[in-house]
Amino acid sequence: MTPKPKLLTVEEAKALDLPRMTELFSAHINPGQLHFMKLLGFDKIKVERAEGMFYVDQNGRKILDFFGGFGSLAFGHNHPRILAARQAFQEEKRHEIAMAFMSQYAAALAHNLAACSPGDLDMVFFGSSGSEAMEAALKVAERAAGPKRPKVVYAENSFHGKTKGVLNVTDGKLYRGEFKLIDNTVRVPFGDIEAIENAFKSDPEIGVIVLETIQGGAGIVTAPTEFWQKLRALCDRYGVLWVADEVQCGLGRSGKFYAFEHHGVVPDVTALAKSLGGGKTAMAAMIARREVYMKAYGTPKTALIHAMATFGGIGEACITAIEGLNVLYDEHLIDNSASTGTYLVERLEGLKGKYPSLIKEVRGQGLMVGLEFHDFSKTMPMVLRPVLAMLDDKLKGSLPGFIGSHLLRDHGVLVAFTEYNRNVVRLEPPLICEREHVDQFIAALDEVLSRGIVRIVKDFVKAQVR
Ligand SMILES: Cc1ncc(COP(=O)(O)O)c(C=O)c1O
Repeated sequence: MTPKPKLLTVEEAKALDLPRMTELFSAHINPGQLHFMKLLGFDKIKVERAEGMFYVDQNGRKILDFFGGFGSLAFGHNHPRILAARQAFQEEKRHEIAMAFMSQYAAALAHNLAACSPGDLDMVFFGSSGSEAMEAALKVAERAAGPKRPKVVYAENSFHGKTKGVLNVTDGKLYRGEFKLIDNTVRVPFGDIEAIENAFKSDPEIGVIVLETIQGGAGIVTAPTEFWQKLRALCDRYGVLWVADEVQCGLGRSGKFYAFEHHGVVPDVTALAKSLGGGKTAMAAMIARREVYMKAYGTPKTALIHAMATFGGIGEACITAIEGLNVLYDEHLIDNSASTGTYLVERLEGLKGKYPSLIKEVRGQGLMVGLEFHDFSKTMPMVLRPVLAMLDDKLKGSLPGFIGSHLLRDHGVLVAFTEYNRNVVRLEPPLICEREHVDQFIAALDEVLSRGIVRIVKDFVKAQVR
């Protein structure tokens, strides 16, 4: 008989305490990452439950979630309708893997996504992550553009995922490491229509352009309607296919189902992930215009070049997404994102007026909001220099790191940061967020900022050396 290794049970997993979790994380997951969790105080929290806008930690303390899993929690934590749909699916013993037979669940979800999407964005490929959906998006576009036009334009400070294909268009030195990347890409500044036109004009091999509609990792950066309309016109003129990455800004986050809908234009290919999984599962979709899809994979000979992956369209994930899309409209979450997002920005503008030497800019759309602080080096008083010298390099230019850690420790409020701009606090609360949650968040932030920069930094350093 094969001997059973020493395995932890489900009950033992749930009951692990913080020291043991830390030990296992370090031994088996990512010891380096633990270093950053410790800096921000995230290592002191074990989440026992999560419901709606809140996590609940080991001491029964509620933590208000303005991080929202980088946009993965549109419905909040454990939305009752999503839980019920999943439970019923399990109790009915439905099938999951959709490889042999057609899946009624995948078919219905594809129908729903086409119904939510403007124009002829009708053809859907399912995967399990944003990276996988973006890989599929770039592949369908590359095939439709044809072998004579293999070059892809992407933007500075872009983030499209970390798998090897999309890494070629993700603009982060950190993520690129020293991997060998392909050289058929052209990099342009985000929102710079002239640079794009020059690229299209000068290089007839360009067949595809890929852009996040709202750049998340760059620090919540938008481009005006004029840019998107000109982009659509340029793509039509030069026969270039536009891939809109809506993995983070899609599914209602910006106050429209897709962020590109603010600009009255439709891309050739798009991608959703994150909240498509209802905050409960991994689900992602590439959605292409029918004409583009048919060019790439429309015949029996080409149909299997990039057909469903093993877990693409898995049953319970599809059911979760179907229920999520229904909840999105039934509970008017897209409209709530627009109105509560406007309220959040107004309240943050109020704080900017109160703390002009700290806050530089408030920006965003719907409930995808960036709060940019002045650059550390310009606002930091001389007295703090020696204290700062003791800190980790990662934190030196980052007021958001200090503020985020105080918000969590002293007020039970969780915020996020951005990959490429360390001066920005990223706010992506669930779309169920109400004004009272915004008020709670603003009161907490106001209290932390009222301490002034010297105390904010000194308190932080004190907590580190303790
Ligand atoms: C805009 C964008 N595209 C792609 C991805 C990759 O998604 P995933 O982490 O699910 O692979 C992300 C993830 O943060 C994202 O924000």
